[in-house]
Amino acid sequence: MSLHQPCTLPLLLLLLFLASAAAVVADCGGGRWQLLQRSIGISAMHMQLLSNDRVVIFDRTDFGRSNISLANGSCREDPNERVVTHDCSAHSVEYDPAANTFRPLTVQTDVWCSSGSAMPDGRLVQTGGFNDGDRRVRSFSPCKNVSGCDWVEHENGLAARRWYSTNQLLPDGRQIIVGGRRQFNYEFYPKNDAAAQLYSLPFLVQTNDGKSENNLYPFVFLNVDGNLFIFANNRAILYNYSSRAVVRNYPEIPGGDPRSYPSTGSAALLPLDLTLHPGADDVAAEVLVCGGAPRGSFEKAGVGEFVKGLGNCGRIGINDPNPVWAMESMPRERVMGDMVMLPDGNVLIVNGAGSGTAGWENGREPVLNPVLYRPGNPAGSRFEVQNPTDVPRMYHSAAILLRDGRVLVGGSNPHVYYNFTGVMFPTDLSLEAFSPDYLDGRFDGVRPAIVSPAGGVGVGYGEKFVIRFTVSAAGAVKGDDVAVTMLAPPFTTHSFGMNQRLLVLGSEGLRSVAAAAGSYEVTVRMPGSGNLAPAGYYMVFVVHREIPSTGVWVKLH
Ligand SMILES: *[C@@H]1O[C@H](CO)[C@@H](O)[C@H](O)[C@H]1NC(C)=O
Ligand SMILES: *[C@@H]1O[C@H](CO)[C@@H](O)[C@H](O)[C@H]1NC(C)=O
Ligand SMILES: *[C@@H]1O[C@H](CO)[C@@H](O)[C@H](O)[C@H]1NC(C)=O
Ligand SMILES: *[C@@H]1O[C@H](CO)[C@@H](O)[C@H](O)[C@H]1NC(C)=O
Ligand SMILES: *[C@@H]1O[C@H](CO)[C@@H](O)[C@H](O)[C@H]1NC(C)=O
Repeated sequence: MSLHQPCTLPLLLLLLFLASAAAVVADCGGGRWQLLQRSIGISAMHMQLLSNDRVVIFDRTDFGRSNISLANGSCREDPNERVVTHDCSAHSVEYDPAANTFRPLTVQTDVWCSSGSAMPDGRLVQTGGFNDGDRRVRSFSPCKNVSGCDWVEHENGLAARRWYSTNQLLPDGRQIIVGGRRQFNYEFYPKNDAAAQLYSLPFLVQTNDGKSENNLYPFVFLNVDGNLFIFANNRAILYNYSSRAVVRNYPEIPGGDPRSYPSTGSAALLPLDLTLHPGADDVAAEVLVCGGAPRGSFEKAGVGEFVKGLGNCGRIGINDPNPVWAMESMPRERVMGDMVMLPDGNVLIVNGAGSGTAGWENGREPVLNPVLYRPGNPAGSRFEVQNPTDVPRMYHSAAILLRDGRVLVGGSNPHVYYNFTGVMFPTDLSLEAFSPDYLDGRFDGVRPAIVSPAGGVGVGYGEKFVIRFTVSAAGAVKGDDVAVTMLAPPFTTHSFGMNQRLLVLGSEGLRSVAAAAGSYEVTVRMPGSGNLAPAGYYMVFVVHREIPSTGVWVKLH
């Protein structure tokens, strides 16, 4: 069924490749890089795609003036700021991928190393940061036609300071905000009552390595049973946030090395396949954790010794009766990689370094080649090295999927200021797009194009809806070759996509639309519960013979 040609190298090249000690990378995995913007004025430290197809990006307010001015000559006066108290530069922008344009947005307080999530109504709600921003909640409502929509800040929106926390959208429409520096607890936004409640989470004490921590930005996923899978440092629990009970302890990841900040690896919930258990909550759920840094690497980086990153991934069925980590070797070591779910269910591992850790000036050996991970392939044949960029994406870089199937990549700011010279890895203000091989023109014939529904349609839990699409190549499209996937756009920072979630929807047969050649209809069923998919905006894609369409926004309610 796969259209992908096996990676074939001319024999001579192959011999050279094998003989060479240098890191020669075969140019066969595909994918294409494009520089979109040399400078958007800020460094893409945090990114969220919204349901109006705009990307909200921000860095931080406390490291000097950025390279973009606030709108209309306005300035921010903040006596609490550490570097500039009178700042007429912006630290957030809105990027429009279709027009390839951007405009400045206004954050009033420091958003450095914060967290967030899109809400069921499409608003981005961001939480915490540093200094005067550490208890703020900020919201941004997507606007279609107005250029004036901007951040709104809520003072003391949080019960505790939140710096390096992780957020997850819940089935009841609230966000849970887990951990953060010196916070061994969690809270919710919005609150159920006026009391700003904090709930302790001893797991975060148990997984804290003292000075180097190694449990910040924990990897949090909503399990299909409604509990939370929380991974920090080198192990995970299944947690009921209502009864405040650990439901299950998972084994330590083999090797025992830390995967969370600053030994930053990444993690993704692999595709939830609803085609096998339509409507049921007993869908298999697997988590993949990749890369990171050996224990002690952060201290060593502090004294100029940059230890090789971890070169493996662990994969675990989180609802298995006896869950075990299956370990797999990546093509090379990687710390600070981003894991981006693609519409076809594969995972792109991109950005980061070969050695060192997260933190100021702590990374070395930028890894320029993304790697594709195919979860459905047999173990041993899942990784495929992709073509390289020439821009190092070190600490404070990010990557997210766009609705057209491209991956937006930006950021890299491994120092305290916007230093463009005099440092090993200059602060980077650019945006690039990585186009996975599925966007290549040679697949245009089999590429599906969704005709209806148009974007923005609302569909209820468990409801069916019809997707009409076209395929231009001659020859009948077969039901077995078509899948429909649905992806929640994550809030991405520090190598983790919060809320990233891809579902393969159950479908009820495919039929040709009699009147039009190359026109088809497939009836799909939305997930049956908020445990499978919290309410909100998802991108829905038709995938034909592993080639995805451009997505359409569907609001699940
Ligand atoms: C940032 O702005 C300064 C001053 O205008 C300019 O010299 C520099 O080239 C800009 N840097 C980047 C990376 O855009
Ligand atoms: C612009 O958006 C507003 C809602 O924000 C809407 O009421 C208005 O009709 C829109 N105008 C146009 C010209 O589309
Ligand atoms: C800037 O001015 C324009 C035109 O007056 C207005 O539409 C826009 O909302 C202003 N933007 C900000 C961020 O104040
Ligand atoms: C969590 O605990 C509460 C209270 O005991 C219970 O009602 C709920 O069903 C539990 N949640 C899950 C997902 O098991
Ligand atoms: C980085 O920029 C800051 C502020 O401009 C400056 O004080 C510092 O010396 C720079 N660091 C390096 C290594 O050039």
